[in-house]
Amino acid sequence: MLKAIYPGSFDPVTNGHLDIIVRASKLVDRLVVAVLENPSKTSSLFTVDERKEHLKIVTKHLKNVEIQSFNGLMVDFANKINAKVVIRGLRAVTDFESEFQMALINKSLNSEVETFFISTSVEHLYLSSSMVKEIAMFGGNIDTMVPFPIKDFVLEKYKK
Ligand code: PNS
Repeated sequence: MLKAIYPGSFDPVTNGHLDIIVRASKLVDRLVVAVLENPSKTSSLFTVDERKEHLKIVTKHLKNVEIQSFNGLMVDFANKINAKVVIRGLRAVTDFESEFQMALINKSLNSEVETFFISTSVEHLYLSSSMVKEIAMFGGNIDTMVPFPIKDFVLEKYKK
């Protein structure tokens, strides 16, 4: 059984993330979407529990996908849940350097874990959680950027 982990911050989950989740779920038997519990990221818009809830909502139709959170090294968590593959989405060339570095570091930490890159769909090339937050903060339209139920959660945060 091939189990993969798709780690990230998902603050918030975007259509780009969901696209990668859907496509990865077709390639592996089980996909664990893992939200990083990062105590140093105090500037997060959503709590880890909120992000997990959002991911559960938007992936509920995907029967081989589960949502978890982790702290510490991602490869240690992958080891703990017996995931042999790490999924990462690649948007532009600018992603490549940092993603390649992360893949090499993870490989040096645990040589059993392989990173598989999935190239983003063209319509999500420009998309990132940070962009979504900035646009929402200044009242821009995020309809095409986040899954439908997530839009209201984001807008609600900026109303306060
Ligand atoms: O959503 P992001 O910021 O692209 O996700 C980055 C993430 C969570 C995959 C990465 O920061 C991570 O794996 N952090 C856990 C700590 C770790 O394992 N670091 C070593 C590899 S850089």
